[in-house]
Amino acid sequence: MTAPSPIRTERHGEILVIISDSPPVNALGAAVRDGLEAGVKEGVADASIKAMVIRCDGRTFFAGADITEFGKPPKGASLHEVIDMMDASDKPIVAAIHGTALGGGCEVALACHYRVAVPSAVMGLPEVKLGLLPGAGGTQRLPRIVGVKAALEMVAIGDPIPAKKAAEVGLVDKVVGEGSLEADAIAFAKEIAGKRPIPRVRDKTVDPDPEAVEAFRKAHGRKMRGFDAPAANIACVVAASEKPFDEGMKFEREQFMKLMTGTQSAAQRHIFFAERQAAKIDDVDPKTPLRPVNKVGVIGAGTMGGGISMNFLSAGIPVTIVEMQQEALDRGTGVVRKNYEASAAKGRIKPDAPEKAMALLTPTLSLDDLADCDLIIEAVYENMDVKKELFTKLDAIARPGAILASNTSYLNVDEIAAVTKRPEDVVGMHFFSPANVMKLLEVVRGEKTAGDVLATVMALAKKIRKVAVVAGVCHGFIGNRMLSPRQIEANKLLMEGATPEQIDRVHVEFGMPMGPFQMSDLAGVDIGWHRDPTRIESIRDALAAEGRWGQKKNAGFYDYDEKRNPTPSPRVAEIIEDFRSRSNLPKREITDEEIVERTLYPMVNEGALILEEGKAQRASDIDVVWIYGYGWPVYRGGPMFWAQTEGLPKVVAGLEKHGFKVAESLKAAAESGGKL
Ligand code: 3HC
Repeated sequence: MTAPSPIRTERHGEILVIISDSPPVNALGAAVRDGLEAGVKEGVADASIKAMVIRCDGRTFFAGADITEFGKPPKGASLHEVIDMMDASDKPIVAAIHGTALGGGCEVALACHYRVAVPSAVMGLPEVKLGLLPGAGGTQRLPRIVGVKAALEMVAIGDPIPAKKAAEVGLVDKVVGEGSLEADAIAFAKEIAGKRPIPRVRDKTVDPDPEAVEAFRKAHGRKMRGFDAPAANIACVVAASEKPFDEGMKFEREQFMKLMTGTQSAAQRHIFFAERQAAKIDDVDPKTPLRPVNKVGVIGAGTMGGGISMNFLSAGIPVTIVEMQQEALDRGTGVVRKNYEASAAKGRIKPDAPEKAMALLTPTLSLDDLADCDLIIEAVYENMDVKKELFTKLDAIARPGAILASNTSYLNVDEIAAVTKRPEDVVGMHFFSPANVMKLLEVVRGEKTAGDVLATVMALAKKIRKVAVVAGVCHGFIGNRMLSPRQIEANKLLMEGATPEQIDRVHVEFGMPMGPFQMSDLAGVDIGWHRDPTRIESIRDALAAEGRWGQKKNAGFYDYDEKRNPTPSPRVAEIIEDFRSRSNLPKREITDEEIVERTLYPMVNEGALILEEGKAQRASDIDVVWIYGYGWPVYRGGPMFWAQTEGLPKVVAGLEKHGFKVAESLKAAAESGGKL
């Protein structure tokens, strides 16, 4: 028995309404495409029908091609065929849009002859975010409506625009009632049913705008570094302004296929699904009732505590923030206010947003004021004794059922939980600095953390617009644990003849925002230092002893000018040389390839160990951590995905060559041709 089609048609007098019902997002999979084709054919063939409306049930108009079909053998009518047929229809078709008309969905709308949308709808071509370009005519039709400049923003950046803006630029013909989309679309279709000629976007032309293209490249060049897709998107928009429609379509197709079969798009598609998968907790029922979180307490008003608070304030959740001294409290809340005001000045948030957010913030010097909080997050000094003392106090203060969270980045959450009488309510919430900006949240699941606590925190993460990943208790959890072997090897490489500049350059060329030593300088060379200037056991100790604490001191692994521009430091070169000569290590030429093998392969190895130990739920979670927490280039898909593209046998051979003990699971996957 064949499955019923997700597409049905309904007649309203002379108007045929074609309706898609394919949850969750009406992606344009084979059955939807076949149904659409049949629906339009029905409308064209029936003499009593004068116009058609295409709309979707559920939460959205078509949100794009079905990404799960990519890379698989083609099935059913192609999106091109369906779109061409719609375009050629001798009866006008109206797209009735709600939700998110994205990618192929937006392209379906562009192939319709008219578009109406509810005010809350958005339209966009986000394919570039998947390492692709709109491959069903989007790059050729969109510029013909909105012009080259606006089209570049929409396809090469990929951010959608709201219905009102779409109407302003001519993408939407009419904004209709929020609750009456179908009726309004039918009324609109009746109005235009007899109008001729039928307006077809393909018949329009768009003037070339080389200045806009140049300006766009200049403005966004840095952001697009390393990515293939933005340049291809730009080229297609330019083609729309220079080539006849059919030739432009051919060009678009070629470019699309090139991207689609490339590694970058595979990596970016992997991350799209990995991010959504990460939200799922394997052994917790997705229907688990969540604990209410209407009020949050944050302990510590430093950089971390302030940043953490902002996440909740921005989501409209009141925060009580605690410090020990009035001065620190004032300074911390002052920084929060300043951050909001700076965002408002740049137009990133509404002008009244800072006041609204600050009104939700209650500063206090007393932990007792946290008694009515549903979630309390401590962001105090990273020291086990300090944390234990604090959690003992919180245990006495917090209301029953409140979630007690630690923002520790390394420490044992089970040990912290053990000082309370409610270890099941204790969890790690490891934010990344700056906490109001970085998207990653590592949610650390203690041995006794309750399922509903975990589920509540994961759901809350989505509310505050974080990408959350569940990690088990181990030193540094997923992200920082993998950072450690990278740093150890980077330091060893210095001793063998590499320079900080070379190692950092290799990482930046790989696509990381910065290399290990640039990161040290930014974070502070003195972080975790024993603070005894006479005890010099490593290059780092020597730097710290001389006050070379990084950017904050204008000197670290690099020298910095007053604008914080780095230059290689002769003094650091001397220190490295001194250590090397004392350790009797011969100085040798280190190749870039060796740096990759010795700093990145061990991360993969550590990732495999993390999986073996069950400290991450799945390899793709590790990728999500590195993409959103450390700026691993998304076009390489995260360390575990990247290892697959490198070839696991090559990674294993590289690790063995450099004397690493290879994780058993990594070895096994390499031998069997399997995956991590
Ligand atoms: N194909 C297949 N599955 C999709 C999908 C798509 N295009 N878009 C979303 N989904 C799935 C998600 O994987 C998720 O599945 P899950 O529940 O099993 O995890 C489910 O739909 C719901 O998605 P979200 O959790 O993301 O739901 P939200 O409500 O938060 O967001 C959305 C909805 C804004 C539509 C978001 O899903 C999104 O941005 N989707 C991708 C849009 C896109 O990139 N479209 C272009 C596709 S490429 C294309 O069209 C090529 C063409 O030019 C030829």
